[in-house]
Amino acid sequence: MPKPKVFVTRKMPEAILNLLRAECEVSVYAHDEPPVPRAQLLREAHDAHGLYTMLTEQIDAELFDAAPNLKVVSQMAVGYDNIDTQEATKRKIPIGHTPGVLTDTTADFAFTLLMAAGRRVVEGMDYIRQGRWQTWIPFELTGSDIHGATLGLLGMGRIGSAVAKRARGFDMRVIYYDVMPNVPQVEGAERVSLDEVLAQSDFVSVHVPLTPETHHIINADTLKQMKRTAVLVNTSRGPTVDAMALYDALKNGTIAYAALDVTEPEPLPADHPLLTLPNCTVTPHIASASVATRMSMAKLAVANLLAGLKGERLPNCANPEVYQ
Ligand code: GLV
Ligand code: GLV
Repeated sequence: MPKPKVFVTRKMPEAILNLLRAECEVSVYAHDEPPVPRAQLLREAHDAHGLYTMLTEQIDAELFDAAPNLKVVSQMAVGYDNIDTQEATKRKIPIGHTPGVLTDTTADFAFTLLMAAGRRVVEGMDYIRQGRWQTWIPFELTGSDIHGATLGLLGMGRIGSAVAKRARGFDMRVIYYDVMPNVPQVEGAERVSLDEVLAQSDFVSVHVPLTPETHHIINADTLKQMKRTAVLVNTSRGPTVDAMALYDALKNGTIAYAALDVTEPEPLPADHPLLTLPNCTVTPHIASASVATRMSMAKLAVANLLAGLKGERLPNCANPEVYQ
């Protein structure tokens, strides 16, 4: 039997490609940037049995139409809002993703941003670079305490609950809002309404998947409900926050601070208004970017892809309806 054909949409370590080459004929878009051009993706998809994708690729009906042999799409990310899973299910194509392996690394980073914003770490470095550090000033660069503060989580899934655990170690009070009836239970974390999270939290951290319901869940109205001293942290997906409403809120003192690992648009252009604000810290979508975790994600994506090519159930399937 000829080996199945696979297209990988980004440069990958040889160790990962070799896992695929053992069982597949592999074609790679061997660059980091720009992302694979749409025309090339459609062309490569034409005879592909499997696609190994990134969150930057739009996987939709047009792509599926162009790929008559496609048996599986395996994405190296936990989030899959770039993939039309309904279209995939209609065509009986399972979609793989990488939950679990990045939970703690991403929670670590959400906490990194929370603390960096609360204690003004990036501003402190800018202050030194600008030559402003002339002496020790008692009320210069004062921030917000982490310990004893209230953390409000939007979304208490895997990552939200891992953040809640960290918060308990810092003696924070943890409240959360989630639309799902069954979420992981973290001792001491209290389920409340969205209004209560917004009104009571010193830190609000977003951990929801991007869906029509969560699009701009942080907007001009919800920002107004937050404390004027509040810090907003986002490690989920950029469009959960209305960036221009956030800009206004940070500029006008509606809230105190934001720390964002994800933005709208992405990448955020270097001349974006948010980057002019001293009270906004932005990182380039790196919450899961530890060496070990990115390798785990890449390997899990290989496992999903190989299972799909063999017609086996994917270890982590984003559209399990496909098996009904
Ligand atoms: C990264 O954002 C992911 O979804 O894994
Ligand atoms: C969602 O992305 C989660 O892993 O909690």
